[in-house]
Amino acid sequence: MEYAPVHPAVLQHARDEAFWADIAGRYDVEPGPINLEYGYFGRMTREVMEAYRRNIDYVNRSNSVFVRHQFDEIDSQVIHNQLANLMRVSPQEIAITRCASESLQSLIRNYNRLQPGDQVLISDLDYLSVQSAMRWLAKSRGVEVVEVQHRHPASFETVMNSYQTALERSPRLKLMALTHVTHRTGLVMPVQAIASLAKARGIDVILDGAHALGQLDFRLDALGVAFAGYNLQKWMGAPLSLGFVYVAQDHLESVDADMGDTRYAKNDIRALVPYGTPNIPAWMTLPKVFDEHLAMGGSAAKGARLSYLRDLWVKPARKLEGVEVLTPDDPRLYCGITALRFTRHDDQQLMAQRLLEEHNLFTVAREGSACGPCIRITPGFSTPAAHMHLLVEALRALA
Ligand SMILES: Cc1ncc(COP(=O)(O)O)c(C=O)c1O
Repeated sequence: MEYAPVHPAVLQHARDEAFWADIAGRYDVEPGPINLEYGYFGRMTREVMEAYRRNIDYVNRSNSVFVRHQFDEIDSQVIHNQLANLMRVSPQEIAITRCASESLQSLIRNYNRLQPGDQVLISDLDYLSVQSAMRWLAKSRGVEVVEVQHRHPASFETVMNSYQTALERSPRLKLMALTHVTHRTGLVMPVQAIASLAKARGIDVILDGAHALGQLDFRLDALGVAFAGYNLQKWMGAPLSLGFVYVAQDHLESVDADMGDTRYAKNDIRALVPYGTPNIPAWMTLPKVFDEHLAMGGSAAKGARLSYLRDLWVKPARKLEGVEVLTPDDPRLYCGITALRFTRHDDQQLMAQRLLEEHNLFTVAREGSACGPCIRITPGFSTPAAHMHLLVEALRALA
């Protein structure tokens, strides 16, 4: 089952301010505005930060004497396997990359099942670099790009209908992009249900999981997607510059080595991503990142906390005249990220600026979705409930 209601004990835990105050104490935070824009990237805990610093020092001191053998041949593989274990997939199905964009672009660029005249699909809620890469396929492979505009307000039914209709109307569709959690409004896509529609028509799905990992509790191999791209710096709390690509075992033949790369054997997923020296100290820090993630309760507990914080501001904000909350309240369709719009003000960018200047709240304005410009609110693991109440007061004052 894709959506499993959160266990009551986990929900109770999400409301435990004392527990989350202890978690907040694990982070060093620069004084300044109240950050409600953790959607860009997450903070590392102090322990992760210290491990990362030690690794930078060590790699700098030991240089290639350490890296060529111990790291390249042994440690990198051990860490790779740990990541595969965490994701509960086979080590042959993942390769570590520099970020989600690199993962997704590698998949799109190297997908080898397209013929001129085929169709590929994107939606208005997909990430810009994914949209551009899919549009680039039109030029480089002669395919047609089908673009879905999601309806607003979104519901489980509208989302499913949009994809169902697009799939029915596009008989030559071979490949579609899908975003697990859209960065524009925080809408969570029912991935398993959409992937199952696609599979029934022989369409491969490339899933953008950038915002899902570490805040949604899912089994990657149960989502039913052939391909996915992730980063580790958002909700996993890893140092910047790490991500990974996933290709289901039975789809390894559907992707080519990047630009004819010959480093690896045929169908070795590591050949799919561009060659380059990675951020080795960051990679070496991953075991500590995984420990910290699990110590906080893993994705189930982290996600429940973020959704609880989100509910704290969304419930009162729904009642405010002059404020529209864009993201639905169906628990299948939201997580910690949610967008709003000031309906009596045209310029949402200006309103984000006023939230900062008049209320000390740092948020971000987003545009590009069919439902129009908005302001995205994203609490983090060091956000106390009190910050959500301050947000509601600010919305009331500015509405
Ligand atoms: C939905 C989504 N996809 C992809 C990305 C790109 O991630 P990265 O910065 O790791 O390339 C982001 C980044 O914010 C995102 O929100």
